Formats: sequence, structure tokens, C-alpha cells
Amino acid sequence: MKKAFFDHIVHGGDYNPEQWIRTPEIWDEDMRLMKLAHVNSASVGIFSWAILEPEEGVYNFEWLDTILDKMHANGIDAVLATPSGARPHWMSDKYPEVLQVQENGIRNEFGVRHNHCLTSPVYREKVRNMNRILAERYGKHPAVKMWHISNEYSGECHCELCQKAFQEWLKVEYHNDIDELNHRWWNNFWSHTVTDWSQIRSPKYRGEVCSSPLVLAWKRFVSDSHISFFENEIAPLREITPDIPVTANFMRMYTGIDYQKMAKKLDIVSWDNYPAWDKGNNDYESLETAFVHDVFRSMKDGQPFFMMESTPSLVNWHPINKLPRPGVQQLSAMQAIAHGSDSVQYFQWRKSRGSHEKYHGAVVDHCGHENTRVFRDVTNTGKAIEKLSAVVGSTCNSKVAIVYDWENRWATDAFCGFNNEHRNYLGECIRWYAPFRKRGISTDIIPMDADFGKYDLVIAPFLYMLKNGTKERIEKYVANGGNFVATYLTGVVDKDDLCYLGGWPAEELKNVFGIRMEETDSLPENVKNRATFNGKEYEIHHVCDIIHANTAKVLGEYKDDFYAGMPSVTVNHYKNGKAWYVAFRNDKDLCDDVCESLINELGITADDPDITAEDGLEVRKRGELLFVLNFTDTARTVLLNREYKNVMTDEILNGAVTVPPGGYLVLE
Ligand code: GLA
Ligand code: ZN
Repeated sequence: MKKAFFDHIVHGGDYNPEQWIRTPEIWDEDMRLMKLAHVNSASVGIFSWAILEPEEGVYNFEWLDTILDKMHANGIDAVLATPSGARPHWMSDKYPEVLQVQENGIRNEFGVRHNHCLTSPVYREKVRNMNRILAERYGKHPAVKMWHISNEYSGECHCELCQKAFQEWLKVEYHNDIDELNHRWWNNFWSHTVTDWSQIRSPKYRGEVCSSPLVLAWKRFVSDSHISFFENEIAPLREITPDIPVTANFMRMYTGIDYQKMAKKLDIVSWDNYPAWDKGNNDYESLETAFVHDVFRSMKDGQPFFMMESTPSLVNWHPINKLPRPGVQQLSAMQAIAHGSDSVQYFQWRKSRGSHEKYHGAVVDHCGHENTRVFRDVTNTGKAIEKLSAVVGSTCNSKVAIVYDWENRWATDAFCGFNNEHRNYLGECIRWYAPFRKRGISTDIIPMDADFGKYDLVIAPFLYMLKNGTKERIEKYVANGGNFVATYLTGVVDKDDLCYLGGWPAEELKNVFGIRMEETDSLPENVKNRATFNGKEYEIHHVCDIIHANTAKVLGEYKDDFYAGMPSVTVNHYKNGKAWYVAFRNDKDLCDDVCESLINELGITADDPDITAEDGLEVRKRGELLFVLNFTDTARTVLLNREYKNVMTDEILNGAVTVPPGGYLVLE
């Protein structure tokens, strides 16, 4: 078990006292209200640059000194942010290079946030300088417990500095060998051969968007730029405050940064969770959110993560901002903890009075007092999570893994061909995840370069791109007794989207799966085709591979079209393990049926076999606690096959227990 940074669940969120600087009595009221709401932490300074450094080299820290002192005096910890998410006017007035340039070549004006060039030496220097001063001033402040680096890193810049940096990055990537790049990018196609590194420009619609290797390289470069920007930010913090952990808040499944790579640089992974609750599909929202929690938990070997933001009520940026019903916020908080979060944090503490986010939910509304439904909900959540300290720091030891890989996401989005309308790599991974969630079996979500060896079962849906070494690692895993499931369009290309020759799946994987793949069919909505698995019939959705079984055993076959009778699902014994190939997509029951048969065959058990939950309930074990969550609209029953203690009420439970709609149980 890794070192836990806290001994309690962190409860709090974004706090912007600088918006209330004219009314410092509100700061005192905030302290009173935070204690009342059982809030023990607040994240400060997130967008505060203009007030921290109102003129170049002129600093104003008094307000932050006061706030941190007040917080400490009231027992509230600080998550202290670096302010690079937005900059003061003077900086872009004096140094326009800090502003981002759009794909069309036009430099942005001052405005919004996250609007900066990642390469700009001036911006990097300014950020380092500011962070050094913050670390020197507050590194020993007793309230400061964690660094919150910037805010939701995102975006890309197409300025000349970035173009040059991209070219330099490519030189390293392709060993300073332009012929190698031309070959790897297949540049004899359409006369795309480059003769000088300076000819390579970022992808853009008035230039090049059809070269998928260029698109992939640019994605990697932008992602690496964010990571090096982050490293630049934390350099002074590591030096001055080596004991204060750093995090950067991630945005769900945002594709602009390879979070699986960046996570390695963080002490604690954190993410901002905004499901669209109560818009008619809480079942799917809760499934996808469970998946995303597991993505983040898996990034550092099952170590706890932080839910850095969530809304205590509604948001303001959905097309229609529905109020979530009472209790959903608390249920959502319990889900986060159940999946490995050591925090429940909100955006934001006090609702802004003006500008863009004044209608975004907050713990304290414009009325300013505690007598609101939302404040009561948050307070109840705060009280409830105080009972859960036992899980803090606890890690998870899953036996099943789903491969979801950021680079494969880029690759499946970038190629042209097959079913261009329905790629949906993420959706397919969630479909393969759902059967395990439904059965209370904890599942890691891992990149393709993770260690497969610790899992009994690894499922890699639509793993179209195999980066260097991956096929060898799959082969080794299965040879050593592992169980690996692949689906249609697996192992087609390498890291530059260059097809493997000799047919799919790539090279030695043909032996592992005992099949040979010949063609891929894509189905328009009005063309129906069917396939079987273990005798049951399924409709094919979007895409299917036409395969030949060599050594593999056939578990199903196609029913229609010229490939009727050919295999649709196979399994192959390879050395000490087994490899399944599911050659078609079905977005209804197929994943569940295949997983059920795998679970039975491999003897995979639920995390807590003493509980039987009705469909629709989510059951998650974390540490010694068992969470039973009901995201549905109707009451559901769990059957407890032994005595449990209800952690919230201390009541002893056994037998059938009802969980109300939107309700939950925590059992011990
Ligand atoms: C993001 C940001 C916050 C705030 C919220 C609103 O997650 O990090 O600053 O804008 O969205 O939902
Ligand atoms: Zn730039």
C-alpha cells in the first residue's frame, strides 16, 4: 500500500475569496459556514494571478495571507493552486507570445482562460517565477496540504514557436533521420515527402489533415508539451516544498492529453466529475462515471485519487441545466469514494455574483445563508463521509482489466476507413466494462503498456494500434497462462498508423489467436446481419471482421451475407493460456454474455460473494467497506447472506434489504 497523504476524506472544493475582497466580512462568514457544512478543505488561488501580481513584478499577497490564516485557525486545509490557468492583462499586452494561436494562424486576444502558448519561454518563465514565490511564501504555512497545478490543462497552440518545437520534437522521435520519418509516415503517398524538418507543420484544415501519422505525432507532441509545461511548473515546488504532494485536475476522458502518461508525474491523480444527472439516463451516466473513476484509480497502481470537482447542484454549461434531485449529489460522492477517491470536492464553495459562472451550482448560493436544500445536502454528505475514514489510502487489487489506451483512442479517431461514422472506442470499452460492474467485480482500466501479468483476464476491445512491444507482451501474457480477449480490428497498425504486413492480427498474434483475418465489413444502419455466440443470435452493429480459424475453436458464426458460416467468435489455447477473438460488434447483450461465460469458465468471483444484488445496483468493495448504490428510479433489493453492520446507522443487517431509489448503503 502506498503512502496516504491524508488520514480523512477531504471534503471541500474551489474557493474564490478574491471575488469577495470588498466584503471581508463574507470571508468570516465563509469560515463559519464551512465548519457548519463539515468542509475540511478549500482550494484557493486557482485563477488569482491578476490579484497576486497586478503589475509585472508587483505582488499582493496580503489577501491570501489572511485567507490562509483564517482557514488554518478554523481547521480548514488549503489546496493551494498555481495560477497559470489564466493570466493578467499586462502579461499579454507586454508579451503577446504568451497568447495562443489558433489552427487558422490567428493569434487569440486576451480572454477566457487556458488561452496560452505551451511553448512560450516567457510564459514558462513567468509561471516558474510565480510558483517559486508561492512556494517560498506558503511552503511552510500550516494550512497548505497540497498543490493544485493550474487548472484543467487543455488546448493547443499553432504559433511559430510551437511549430519549431514540434519539428525539434520530431527530430528526437525519428532519430534525426528525415528518411525514417518519410518512410514511417508513408510520405511517397500524394507526394508528401519532406526534405527539411521545417516543412512539417501542425495539422490544420487549410493544410494537412489527411496524414494520420502527422495527426498522431501532433497529438503526442501537444500532450508532451502539457507534460513538460507541468514539469516546468512544479520544478520550484519540488525544490522548495518536496513534502507537499502535487496534483493537476484532469477532465474526464479529455483526449488532448495522454493522462495515462501524465499521471506518472503526479503524486495524486485528480479529476473533475460532472455527470449529467437526472436528464433521463442515470443508468448510463452512473456506468460511464464508474468507468472513469476506475480509469483514474488505475493510473497509479490502484492508489487513491481525488475527485477535485463536482457540482453540489446544477452546472451552467449544459444546453439545459436541470436541477439534480435531492440525494444524487451524495450518491455520486459515495460512488467516487467506493471507486477509490479520497476526496469529495465541489466547484464551487460560494456562487459568483457576476460574470460567466454566476448560475453554476455552489454550496453557498446568492442568498448567502445555510438554509438551502443544497447546503443541507452538502452538510449531510460531509457528516456521512466522516464515517468512512477507514477507507482512506486503501488500494484495490483487481483481477480483471480492460485496456483503454489514450493513444489507441487517437489512432481509432484518426484513420479513414471502415465504419467512419461509428468508431466509438470509448463506448465499446465501457460496454465491456459493464458486465463486471454489474456483477460486483472490480476492474482496472489500463493502457496497453501496463503489466498484464497480475490479471486473470485482460479484455482489449478494438485495440487497433499496437505500439512497439505490445504484441510481444500479449503473446507472453497468454503463453504464461493469461486469458486475453480481443475484438474486431485488433492489431492492424503500429504506432505510426502503418499497417502490419502479412494480414491481421499482426504477426505472432495470429498464432496466439489461432486465426487469420481477411476482410472487415461495415454495416449501414439499414443493412442487417447476424452472428452467433454459444448458439445465441445477435445483430451485428457497425463492423465485423471476416476471419478464418486455424487452430482456434469456433464459438459462433455469421448467419448472412457471403460470409455466412464463417467464424464470428473463437477461442484458442496457446501455450498455457487462452485467447478469444470476438470478431463483431453488438451493442446489446453480446458483451454481457461473453463475459458471463468467461467469468464462469475462469472462476472469477465478485469482490464480496456474500451479497446478491438486484440488477441496477452497483456494488463496490473498498477496503473493508462495501458500497451498494442505487442510481435507478425504483427501490431495489440486496440479499445479504451474512450479518453486516450499516456503517451509517450502526444497525446490524442480514437477509433482504431494500435500497431506495437514489439511495445507498455502506456496509461493514
Ligand atoms: C471546470 C473548471 C472550473 C469550473 C467548472 C464549472 O471543471 O475547472 O473552474 O469552470 O468547470 O463546471
Ligand atoms: Zn505556441
